[in-house]
Amino acid sequence: MSEAAARGEWGSRVGFLLAAAGSAIGLGNIWRFTYIMGENGGAAFILVYVVCIVLIGAPVFLAELVIGRHTHLNPVGAFEALKPGTAWKWVGALGVLAGALLLSFYSVVAGWVMAYAVRAPMGTISGLASPEESGAYFGALSSSTAQSITFHAVFMIITMVIVARGVKGGIERASKIMMPILFLLLAVLVVRGILLPGAGAGIEFMLRPDFSALNPTVVLISMGHAFFTLSVGMGAMITYGSYLSPSNDLPKSSLQVAFMDTLVAIAAGFAIFPALFAFGMEPTEGPGLVFVTLPVVFHQMPGGTLFASMFFALFLMAALTSSISLLEVVAAYFIDDLRWSRGKAVVILGGAIFLMGIPAALAMGPWSGWSIASMLGGAAGEGVLGSVGIFQLNWFDLISHVVSDYMLPIGGFFVCLFVGWYWDRRAVEAEAALGSSGFRAMDLWINLLRWVGPLVIGEVLALGVLAEFPEQFFPRLASTVNTLHTWFIGLDILVALAVIAYSLAAGGGRKDRPAA
Ligand code: PHE
Repeated sequence: MSEAAARGEWGSRVGFLLAAAGSAIGLGNIWRFTYIMGENGGAAFILVYVVCIVLIGAPVFLAELVIGRHTHLNPVGAFEALKPGTAWKWVGALGVLAGALLLSFYSVVAGWVMAYAVRAPMGTISGLASPEESGAYFGALSSSTAQSITFHAVFMIITMVIVARGVKGGIERASKIMMPILFLLLAVLVVRGILLPGAGAGIEFMLRPDFSALNPTVVLISMGHAFFTLSVGMGAMITYGSYLSPSNDLPKSSLQVAFMDTLVAIAAGFAIFPALFAFGMEPTEGPGLVFVTLPVVFHQMPGGTLFASMFFALFLMAALTSSISLLEVVAAYFIDDLRWSRGKAVVILGGAIFLMGIPAALAMGPWSGWSIASMLGGAAGEGVLGSVGIFQLNWFDLISHVVSDYMLPIGGFFVCLFVGWYWDRRAVEAEAALGSSGFRAMDLWINLLRWVGPLVIGEVLALGVLAEFPEQFFPRLASTVNTLHTWFIGLDILVALAVIAYSLAAGGGRKDRPAA
């Protein structure tokens, strides 16, 4: 067996594509995207989000694949191989840690999805007749320690079984079975939603942008979500890229995954919002949107039990093809660098991540009152320290906030710097062009990584930190942050336009340069 085959390798191009798309398409597309779009103005949000995907998310996605395929290593090993003895490996380590933390709460949410998926065929979910009844049902599930932890455990075990079977026999196979089913089910639900009497208002919400709903915060939220939904910023695509052979066209695959991911998110919107509006409900329900609002929609719909069963089965599959990529990142580090066997890595790490998820599950019930501020207590808890936004969150929200809004963007920021500036430009271009039938946007890609990515991500992070501080102690901060937001967005648009114009003009002469 060759070295590559021993470590693991994708069996086919389609297999890799479906696995990568499976990682990207998950709770982010169905649960997170729909509720933040509902809260942030529908069509206008979609526009900004798509711009973030194209200008930042997709370029970072490709950059991660390039690092992965060049080194054939996990995120820590990859940076260490490219810049030995430097601090770059810590970027990889941050990713592995982010993967473990993300999976610990992802699995709790996926556990609720599983609870709904197994109960839907019995008519329990579509039997919830009013938003109150449905809210109480979801509340009872998520705050029940026994139920939350049981479903979290079962979901983790399924994830572990798939990952233990390896790259080709586990991850690729599971994705090849589940992704087509997911696409099919989603298509059925979109048609069902659009054809409902009264769906017009929902379709309009999805298609007609209300630009007055756009404010700087919306732009920041879109960017954070672009990272989350494409699975970038924590080395998942470095890891998946490391199992690739030279014949894969990386730029094309990146575009295809970004396209499919966006399509599924928008389709999920079309499956949900027309029905929501048709039954007179509000889109601004927040994180409970899918769990609280949808059952009532299914209740009022002819064939509701069938459609509810399909929806939550789809939702569960989407979550699984993402959770396996999270566990794979963590496992790959221990397999490559610490020489653990795959079985040992999966059992020990999966078990540890399961335990790490327990506080997240408890945070929805008995531990909902816990926060760093409450722990500090007394004078410290009531002072500036205790009133910092991040210190007031319970464990679930804290981990979700730290990972999605800080760790992933920080990881993405460094990937931009690494591939855009530090790594040898010729090596980058050669690897990106390998297996590709001519990557004409090479200059544009590199310039986006050099300029737009670090600029925008840097701003978002800086403003995110400022926004944590309490107004009562820093009264002028909020208005300063707002002014900065507005200026930054203007600057970003100018820089992005300049980079695009410059790259496309310069790229004209590139066609006659050889691809490598
Ligand atoms: N992209 C996944 C989703 O949308 C989440 C994820 C993030 C998976 C990072 C892997 C790595 O649900």
